[in-house]
Amino acid sequence: MPTTQPPYYITTPIYYVNDRPHVGSCYTTLLADCAARFMRAAGRPVFFLTGTDEHGQKVEKSAASRGLTPKALADENAAHFKTAFQFLHCSFDHFIRTTDAAHEAQVQEALRRLIKSGDVYLGTFEGWYDEGQEEYVTENQAREKNFKAFNGQPLVKAKEHNYYFRLSAFQKRLEEFFEKNPGFVRPEARRNEVLGRFKEGLQDVPVSRTSFTWGVPFPKEIEGADRHVTYVWIDALFNYITALDLLSVSPAPGGGDVAPRQRGQPPLASFWPAQVHAIGKEILWFHAVIWPALLMALNLPTPHCIYAHSFWIRDGKKMSKSLGNFIDLETIHAYCNAFSVDAWRWFMLTQGPIEATDADFSHPKFVEAYNADLANGIGNASSRVLNMIEKYFAGAVPDPQGNSNHAGHDWPALAQSSLASATSAMEHFDLAGALAAAMSLSKRVDAYIVATEPYRMAKDQAKMPEVGLVLYHCAEALRIAATLLACAMPAKMSDVLQRFGQEPPRPDGSFSRPLSELCKWGGLKPGTRVVKGEGLFPRADSDAPPPTPTPP
Ligand code: MSP
Repeated sequence: MPTTQPPYYITTPIYYVNDRPHVGSCYTTLLADCAARFMRAAGRPVFFLTGTDEHGQKVEKSAASRGLTPKALADENAAHFKTAFQFLHCSFDHFIRTTDAAHEAQVQEALRRLIKSGDVYLGTFEGWYDEGQEEYVTENQAREKNFKAFNGQPLVKAKEHNYYFRLSAFQKRLEEFFEKNPGFVRPEARRNEVLGRFKEGLQDVPVSRTSFTWGVPFPKEIEGADRHVTYVWIDALFNYITALDLLSVSPAPGGGDVAPRQRGQPPLASFWPAQVHAIGKEILWFHAVIWPALLMALNLPTPHCIYAHSFWIRDGKKMSKSLGNFIDLETIHAYCNAFSVDAWRWFMLTQGPIEATDADFSHPKFVEAYNADLANGIGNASSRVLNMIEKYFAGAVPDPQGNSNHAGHDWPALAQSSLASATSAMEHFDLAGALAAAMSLSKRVDAYIVATEPYRMAKDQAKMPEVGLVLYHCAEALRIAATLLACAMPAKMSDVLQRFGQEPPRPDGSFSRPLSELCKWGGLKPGTRVVKGEGLFPRADSDAPPPTPTPP
């Protein structure tokens, strides 16, 4: 496929290894996967990055409590994240770990440059510290939160001699940057939150720690820097550019286990700046303010968009370890086994907290969406159409004889607008909107069948050409819908496409031709053999209990 289209770089947060994957980490990674697959299908060169954040005191402490070295704990849990994301068919191009030698070397290089430019300096700091989040909060925030940390524990007053990043010096530049780039932080409500905090004035942020050792050491040659390790958040943010070898000092690219660039693929560095850093709302400040300031200090371009989604909650309550109501990997596995991985993906992608409000996970809601969109939706439409082609046309796609507009349905225009809306929504990271635009074609097929009643017409031999016309339109609309929906449900939509005699997407979501060509009306050749197959999404019984959590 020609790679003249602009590169698309999308990232997830890198997840802490003192925890196991759960619905939250899987959710953000699924969002990024869906966008990455769609962009690959559209023909854009894509780099999709996820990974693990492995340094810091929390990891050091968790490891010690289990009698492990921090690295051993990190190895164990990084593997869990990788396996969980692969199980959910996430097509990441690289899984970065902050303990990768290439990452560590580049973090040191960033520090060297920042110290040289004077943006990082040695100083003293005293303030309210959230031990769970490993971050300082301002006096105002501490008061607002009743001096409680994110996890409910008391905030502690801490004093440190540290290296600091001169964030205060970037206040004006950042304000101008926000003004000029209204789409930088999304959704809008999140942007307003950041703008509100600008008014409190920006304070310098510590970028080193001396209270523990599990971190990237400050470069040896820097005077007074021995015993200082890089603050976990600063180390972590740099992952977005170290994965592209942007700060590499060695001439040979050595980005961890990045697959070697194949011929025709753009160089890694050309993926910067990222189109989207997909994150959860609780880590917005680091991404929306500290990260662009660090990049400005390094004279590097800033990312296009920080997309901060909201939280999954469960049955109306925040999920927490103490309540024991986390949707853990065992629960995710149970749903995937009972309803398919793609049904889980569909629910996550269409019913999740992508916008500014939290989304409630409940079993009845899952079953309702599953039945409405999948079992009674595209699953049923595909089975009906395949059945009728088999029954009335011996399994060969009928010939519409050049007619594309029928019974008030201008099919080429419908297909075109579905592609255009899905593409534009995806470019704005409106995944639910993009998927709704694609699904609308399948809904049209239902309405068209109801309006034209091909099964009734088929009783009259003279009407068979019209039955053929209707079924061609239905099959072609479903082919296009499945092509557009493959980014959300890669396995099931591959199955639909194959039943209609079409080539499925490649494992990374790309096709041999871009969506703009594939989704043109008329791509389905009359005479193509179709296969009826088993039911795609068997109906779910809404009275049945939720599936029992099962170990992976
Ligand atoms: N390591 C930092 C991120 C560094 S990025 C440079 C971190 N890690 S984390 O393991 O705590 O992951 C946080 C992310 O997990 C959130 O930003 C969000 O993407 C996801 N989620 C965690 N809980 C969630 C929900 N309940 N709902 C949705 N997503 C949430 O913070």
